[in-house]
Amino acid sequence: MTNKYPVIRNCHYDFSGQSYANSYPNLHKYPATMIPQIGIELFKELNLSGGKLLDPYCGSGSSFTVGLDRGLEEMYGFDLNPLAILICKAKFTKVPIPRLYEANQKLRKAVANLQGNQGKVEQIKRPDFYHIDFWFSKQVTQQLAILRHCIERLDTSLRIKDFLRVPFSETVRECSYTRNNEFKLYRMAATELLAFQPDVLGLFWEKLNQAVKIYETYYYPKLEGTKITLSRQFRPKFNYYDVVLTSPPYGDSKTTVAYGQFSLLSNEWLGIKEARQIDQMLMGGQRVKTLYSHSLIQDYLLEISKQSEQRAMEVSSFYFDLAQSIQTVAQHIKIGGKAIYVVGNRRVKNIQLPTDQFIAEQFEENEFKHLFTYERLLGNKAMPLRNSPTNQKGESNRTMTQEFIVVCERSK
Ligand SMILES: C[S@@+](CC[C@H](N)C(=O)[O-])C[C@H]1O[C@@H](n2cnc3c(N)ncnc32)[C@H](O)[C@@H]1O
Repeated sequence: MTNKYPVIRNCHYDFSGQSYANSYPNLHKYPATMIPQIGIELFKELNLSGGKLLDPYCGSGSSFTVGLDRGLEEMYGFDLNPLAILICKAKFTKVPIPRLYEANQKLRKAVANLQGNQGKVEQIKRPDFYHIDFWFSKQVTQQLAILRHCIERLDTSLRIKDFLRVPFSETVRECSYTRNNEFKLYRMAATELLAFQPDVLGLFWEKLNQAVKIYETYYYPKLEGTKITLSRQFRPKFNYYDVVLTSPPYGDSKTTVAYGQFSLLSNEWLGIKEARQIDQMLMGGQRVKTLYSHSLIQDYLLEISKQSEQRAMEVSSFYFDLAQSIQTVAQHIKIGGKAIYVVGNRRVKNIQLPTDQFIAEQFEENEFKHLFTYERLLGNKAMPLRNSPTNQKGESNRTMTQEFIVVCERSK
């Protein structure tokens, strides 16, 4: 089918061979991050500098990296995944560097003191979540519990505790029995379990030092004069933002990127009560009972429903939520403000869904004008490159090879 909203192939935005780390290393792994280079280049092209930015699906915060680079003064980020907000807080909250070094020293002392007192170690509460022994050995659980206990009780500010929780979360993940190069939770092969004896504390200190260095070099120097507000729940500010820069999910968590599953063990250790419900709370997580039928996406959904009604409903749930979200976001942008969505068009049942077209259409229905869409090659995004297009074992397909940068402007 031909595109209603024209798409321009723009190799300038491929950034082939480059990664996130080229300009701004991340403090914590996160799935499907957007490389900040895209936003930085686009802001230059659109002459955007200064003003207020919104990212309604901020993940680990690459849009704020763009904002910092381009001198935006106020930024707001929302994400239902608590781990995402924690990572953003660590990167974008101003904390005096000497206080971080001080906290590092205090924490080392507290851990050493505790370790020297076996009686106290035995009294430390270990978390009590479902299947903890399936994912962690007894020794690892004990070491993580010591670390967590000392971080929680450290005589320091909440901001610094949040910072410390980020290397802690990475340590949780890497010391668990998960296969670490995967975003979904898969346990290591039984043959690997016995040999897996990670040095929990050693890894944590290494990650903490690395995080401090990255923060000190890349983020802290740019935080002066910028206010970044972060929260899990969206807070309304109508007609307020100059620009929205975001990379929304490509589909529901269950069948695309499982952000909640990726973050589960960290969220459990960090004491998030609804850690296991995150994926159902995210976009497309609640199944609808009717096909989405108000838009150019309808024909595609009908095609899918010929093969599987259930899949068509799952996909519909996502588009209902995305449409609703765009309607909300649109009301928050000033007249003349821009909406920039970086998105991939996933395949379901071998049918490629034109999410870029859907986004342009939804903005146009909400007082926006579509300016342009660029197509870029996807060479550097950390996400599952293959899935099963029919959801059947043994079949796989490259999920996406290109990405779309959809740019719209509020006209009324
Ligand atoms: C593609 S990722 C964003 C990645 C981000 N740009 C980065 O560089 O890290 C999409 C994010 O949307 C979040 N998300 C999904 N549904 C959401 C919803 N209904 N409300 C808020 N956030 C949501 C996910 O938790 C995930 O962090």
